[in-house]
Amino acid sequence: MKIIDGLSYDDILLKPGYTEIVPHMTEIRSRLGGDIKLNVPIISAAMDTVTEMELAIALALQGGAGVIHRNLSPQDQAEQVSKVKRYLNWIIEQPFTINEDQTVAEAQQIMRRYGISGLPVLNRDGLLCGILTSRDLRFCRELPQKVSQVMTHQVVTEMESVTVQSAKEKFDTHKIEKLPVVNSAQQLIGLITVKDLEKQAQYPKAATDSWGRLIVGAAISPFDFRQRLPLLIEKKVDFVAIDVAHGNTESVVRATEQIKKEFDVILISGNVIDGEGTRRLISAGADAVKVGVGPGASCTTRIVAGVGVPQFTAVYESAQAAKSYNIPIVADGGIKFSGDIVKAIAAGANTVMIGGLFAGLKEAPGREILFDGRIFKEYRGMGSVAAIKEGSGDRYQMADSDEVVPEGIEGRVPYKGELKKYLYQLTTGLRKGMAYCGCKTISDLQNYQQIIKITAAGLKESHPHDVIMTQEAPNYSGRGH
Ligand code: XMP
Repeated sequence: MKIIDGLSYDDILLKPGYTEIVPHMTEIRSRLGGDIKLNVPIISAAMDTVTEMELAIALALQGGAGVIHRNLSPQDQAEQVSKVKRYLNWIIEQPFTINEDQTVAEAQQIMRRYGISGLPVLNRDGLLCGILTSRDLRFCRELPQKVSQVMTHQVVTEMESVTVQSAKEKFDTHKIEKLPVVNSAQQLIGLITVKDLEKQAQYPKAATDSWGRLIVGAAISPFDFRQRLPLLIEKKVDFVAIDVAHGNTESVVRATEQIKKEFDVILISGNVIDGEGTRRLISAGADAVKVGVGPGASCTTRIVAGVGVPQFTAVYESAQAAKSYNIPIVADGGIKFSGDIVKAIAAGANTVMIGGLFAGLKEAPGREILFDGRIFKEYRGMGSVAAIKEGSGDRYQMADSDEVVPEGIEGRVPYKGELKKYLYQLTTGLRKGMAYCGCKTISDLQNYQQIIKITAAGLKESHPHDVIMTQEAPNYSGRGH
C-alpha cells in the first residue's frame, strides 16, 4: 500500500522573499467562476448560521459574495436572493409610467402618491415617447391637459448595455435627473435616477453585476435543483453552488451535467479533494470547483467516517488539475486566521469559502448567546443534528426518515461585531502575506510556490508563546477565532 502525505494549512508556511510590494499596492480581485469577478476573494458558506441576506448584502458591499443556504424553502431562498439583488438597485426595473393620453392631473396624482418626481411617458403602442418631470409641470396650470402636450419629447435614453460610467456621463452632459433605459425596439426596460446612482458611489468596492446589482449565490442540491433553480434564476441569482459533503459522486456529476444543459447559470460544483474529482466535475460542465472534505470548524466527517484530505494538499491537487482548463477553485473550510487565506491561494485557490469565522458577525443569522459575561453567536455544522432536522440531511446522503448520524457539531463562536471591520482585518492579512512574498496579484500568489513544511515545534513557534495574552487582537483570539 502506498501511503501519501497530506498537509493542512497549519503544516506549512510561505517563505517570504525579496519584495518591492507593500500591502496597499496589492490587487486582490479574483475570478469566482464563469465571468464573475469578486473584488475580495472570499465567499461565505451556505450554512444556516452563516449566510442569509443580511450577511450576503454586507459581504457583497465590501467586494465578496454570500451563498444563501438551502435549509430554507425554495421560495424563501429565492426571496432572500431577490432582496440582495434589489439592495443597490440603480436601475429601477419596473418604473411607474404614464400614457401620453392621460391627463396632467392623473400624472400628478401618481407622482404624489408614490413620492416620485418624474414619469417616463409611453405611447399607445407601449413604446417610450417622452418623459414628464417636475420641471415640465412647474408652470403647467391646466390640469386637464394631456401629458403629451406638456412632456419633454426629446428624451435622453440609455440602451441595455448601460454601465454606471456611461449613465454618469449622460447625467453630467445633459444635466438631467432621470434616464430611461430602452431596448432596440424603444420599449422601456428600466429607469435610472441620479439619486440611485449616487448610492452606488458610496460602495466603490462592492461586487456587482453589469447592472450594478450586488452579486449573490445560492446553495442547491443534486436532488432539489429543479425546484430551486427556476425561482433563483427568476430572481437573478448570479451563481449557484452544489452543496454536498462529497462531490465526486454519480449524483453530483449527473446534476452538474443536467444543470449546465438545462439552465443558464454559473455553477460551482463540489466538494472534491483531488485532481481526479476536479477533472470529473469540470468535464461535467462545472464553472468552478469547490474543494474540501472535513476541514470545517464544525465538521466531524473525518472523525465519524475516517475520510478526508488535509486542506492544503486537497486544494493544491485540485488546483493543479483545474489549471489547464482555466477553471477556478474555491477552497471551502478550515480558514482559522487570515494567514490561512494566503496559504489557500498559494495552494492554487482563486477564492476561499468561510463559515466559522463569519458566524460571530452581527449580520450572521445565528442566535446571540450570553455566556460567562461574554456575547457569542450560535454556529453549527450543516451535518449537525439540529441542522439535519431542518432539512440538510441530503447533504450527507441521508433520507428524512433515517435516524440522524451527524457529521457536524453545534456550538458557539465569539461575537465579532460588524462584517466590514472584520473583513478589513482578513483582507489586510491577505495583502500583508502577498507583500511579504512580492506578489502583486492573486495570480502571482497562486504561482509563488515557495512553501515550507513545518513541524509541530514550528507551529508552536508561529503562535504567540510564553506570554499570557491580556488583550485579544481583532485578528487573533488564541481560540482559533
Ligand atoms: P469553516 O471552517 O469556515 O468551514 O467553518 C465551512 C465549511 O464547512 C463545511 N461544513 C460541514 N462539513 N460537517 C462537515 O463535514 C458539517 O456539519 C458541515 N457544515 C458545514 C461546508 O463545506 C462549509 O462551507
